[in-house]
Amino acid sequence: MALRTSLRSLARRLGRVIPVKWRLRAIEGVLRLQEPGVRRLYNRTAVAPNYLTIDDLDALAREFPVERQTYLYDADTLEKRGEERARPLLDLVAGKGTFLEIGAADGMVLRAIAQRGHTAIGVDILASNLDARAREAGVRFIQTDATRLCFPDESVDVVYSFATFEHLPDPDATFAEIVRVLKKGGYACIDFAGLGWTYRGAHMYKTFGIPFITALFTRETIDRYVAEHQLPHYFPSINNWPIERFREVFRKYEPQMERIRYSETKDRFHFRFIRRFMPHLRRAPSFDSLLVDQVEGLFRKR
Ligand SMILES: C[S@@+](CC[C@H](N)C(=O)[O-])C[C@H]1O[C@@H](n2cnc3c(N)ncnc32)[C@H](O)[C@@H]1O
Repeated sequence: MALRTSLRSLARRLGRVIPVKWRLRAIEGVLRLQEPGVRRLYNRTAVAPNYLTIDDLDALAREFPVERQTYLYDADTLEKRGEERARPLLDLVAGKGTFLEIGAADGMVLRAIAQRGHTAIGVDILASNLDARAREAGVRFIQTDATRLCFPDESVDVVYSFATFEHLPDPDATFAEIVRVLKKGGYACIDFAGLGWTYRGAHMYKTFGIPFITALFTRETIDRYVAEHQLPHYFPSINNWPIERFREVFRKYEPQMERIRYSETKDRFHFRFIRRFMPHLRRAPSFDSLLVDQVEGLFRKR
């Protein structure tokens, strides 16, 4: 007992001198080893017959308070994020090119692109978030659904999209449009996170800190709780596509779109929660749909 306690305190002391980055890497290594076991348990578990109740929601809301938002929208952050995201996109074109962003929102990535003399066009279903600085820099904005890009065939050098594909009602139709409007040799850069079945899939961050909330509760229970507690109700629409459906789309367009880079990032930090609520999380279409939280793809039109 005494030996175990002193070993634990030694590990804690060692932990303090090891840089956070290394500690995280070590934890990730351990979690990677645990993944097959959690997957096996998922495959063996039967789906819970009922969703959790409003009382359970109340208890979990207390146990998992809302986390501090780290994705910020102040003017300086928007400018900095725009510059950072534009940099690798600009490298894709040798001379002056036409860039199209899907889900452009504030348009600050396009602004960084326009400021370097390129044609920069944004589409979004909402026009209200466009930053005045983007317009001043010459960004063109078109309010439209991403399944109807009103551009001629083969007219765009680079199409890109950040944090949007998980919101689109029909990512397949949008990808078909991307293929259509891209010039031969043009690039599509797609980056999105928080897929529908993952721990943050519901995008209800401002109201709840509960992971995997939509697998645990019906939307009716969530809405009733929010109304009763007068909580903020900004819940953007999410398509709930599991990762397998996205993979299918990227595979389907492989004959037209060469895959230059593609990566999926798994979140393994919720294994304890997944084990605890396994019968409810079994409601997800697959184990991977719970885990794969981010997709980054770079494709070139053949
Ligand atoms: C989470 S925001 C991301 C905005 C920005 N790209 C970023 O990374 O901060 C998702 C954007 O997709 C847009 N959007 C949602 N559904 C859309 C659709 N069907 N067609 C076009 N844009 C859509 C939203 O209006 C919103 O601006």
